[in-house]
Amino acid sequence: MAKVYVARPIPPEAEAYIAEHCEYEKWEGDGQITREELMRSLSDADGLLITGERIDDEFLDHAPKLKAVSNISVGYNNFDLEAMKRRGVIGTNTPDVLNETVADLALALMLSAARRVPELDRMVKEGKWEKGDEEPLYGVDVHGKTLGIIGMGRIGEAIARRARLGFNMKIQYYNRRRKPEMEGTLGAVYAPFDDLLQTSDFVLLMVPFTPETRRLMGREQFRMMKKSAIFINTSRGQTVDEEALTEALQTKEILAAGLDVFEQEPVSKDNPLLKLPNVVTLPHIGSATHQTRSAMALLAAKNLVAAVTGEEPPNVVPELKGQQSIKQ
Ligand code: DGY
Repeated sequence: MAKVYVARPIPPEAEAYIAEHCEYEKWEGDGQITREELMRSLSDADGLLITGERIDDEFLDHAPKLKAVSNISVGYNNFDLEAMKRRGVIGTNTPDVLNETVADLALALMLSAARRVPELDRMVKEGKWEKGDEEPLYGVDVHGKTLGIIGMGRIGEAIARRARLGFNMKIQYYNRRRKPEMEGTLGAVYAPFDDLLQTSDFVLLMVPFTPETRRLMGREQFRMMKKSAIFINTSRGQTVDEEALTEALQTKEILAAGLDVFEQEPVSKDNPLLKLPNVVTLPHIGSATHQTRSAMALLAAKNLVAAVTGEEPPNVVPELKGQQSIKQ
């Protein structure tokens, strides 16, 4: 029977699925397993279930029998794809089951940043709500505005649907390939990158993190945005130059930001972005609802079991498709 290692707590249903098909060990220590502890646990593992641990040559040196790594996430920027290819290790992710949940959170960030929800919530709870001129509390509208989505994948599409059908927003998008279906059904307009930055009221980043998208948003890009615009990042922190974003917010080059992700996670408490009232921050919880995280864990378990039992896993990441494990 194949042996797998489960490196983080998963719901009972996902664990039961693994138990039915494999021998398994799981991390039962306090908090998150460290990279060193994880590497020590893999000497005879055929498969590994994780979220986000970097899988590179150093890591794989400790896992001589490893055939497959199953990520409980749609993003797989933690995979060193070349190292995995060289060693015949299959990598899988959990697309689709989280689309609607991440889209909900993107809208929550847009609404929170535009209407200053966390800032005003704090004010009320601190007993600072006084009668008088309300203008200092005003926000900006979301409905009817122009939303520019950078990265029109399946999550981007779910965001666009909410924004168009729920908030009557105009949708423009920038993507590697055009999406005629979105143009037809939602009237979404394909825009060159710079045009999208210059003309959107909300600029929302939903690209995967790859060498091409590293610091896609920097000083020059924030300068192009409207002074009244709001920037939302629900992708990965490394797609943004945080210093440039901080400066753009401090100097009012843009109005506000909503961030679910940071260059360093957990974010350092000294990160200057945390001091700005016009930034809404979240701890990378785009897909974090009970229902969706359970669905992701079960899908990851199915991917893992398929990979270590010689079946084709449903969600091999595109760059590693066709990869046959060379290990017996
Ligand atoms: C994903 O699935 O990639 C989410 O960002 C959670 O990590």
